[in-house]
Amino acid sequence: MSEAANYSVVEALRNGLRIEIRALRLDDRAGVLAAVDRSSAQSLYRRFFGLKRGFTEQEKAFFLNVDFVNHVALVAVVEEGGRQVIVGGGRYIVLQPGKAEVAFAVVDQHQGQGIGAALMHHLAAIARGAGLNELIAEVLPDNVPMLKVFEKSGFHVSTKRDSGVMHIALRLF
Ligand SMILES: CC(C)(COP(=O)(O)OP(=O)(O)OC[C@H]1O[C@@H](n2cnc3c(N)ncnc32)[C@H](O)[C@@H]1OP(=O)(O)O)[C@@H](O)C(=O)NCCC(=O)NCCS
Repeated sequence: MSEAANYSVVEALRNGLRIEIRALRLDDRAGVLAAVDRSSAQSLYRRFFGLKRGFTEQEKAFFLNVDFVNHVALVAVVEEGGRQVIVGGGRYIVLQPGKAEVAFAVVDQHQGQGIGAALMHHLAAIARGAGLNELIAEVLPDNVPMLKVFEKSGFHVSTKRDSGVMHIALRLF
């Protein structure tokens, strides 16, 4: 397992809230499922490209059992009511040597505060450290927040539109 499995950074959001961006852990199952539960239908639609009411055990295992080499997942944690709560996550899955697909989700209540950008920044740092040179993503054309996160990532972004989906490619080097 790579050192990405122990990744942890703490930073302040633009609203002053303290956030930890850290590697997903096996004991995050309840926290991740709770974050999905509090996400709106629109957010889930934008993340999974369809109506998503629940996940099979197989899907849950896929999302939670990451190897931090071919599948790297970070979560964003904030304090809510004295508890550390997962409010977002980002992951990449290596598709072929040097190239991985990324995806992000932040619970609605915490969107627009820079969490998506922070997840992008740290995931890209891990990807670069692992020698990847390209991150790709599929985004619905009306998903302005996600497109903005990519545009503001600081990397060269290329975009292709194809039957209702935007294909995004970020060049890391
Ligand atoms: C896409 C997503 C991960 C971004 O996370 P986030 O924490 O909201 O992102 P940030 O706060 O870092 O940045 C979002 C940017 O979009 C802007 N934004 C948010 N909502 C917007 C809207 N409706 N119209 C225009 N801009 C908008 C924000 O102001 C911000 O830009 P700024 O930095 O110039 O102010 C989050 O919105 C989300 O989970 N959406 C649902 C799931 C999803 O779409 N996943 C993507 C699949 S790949």
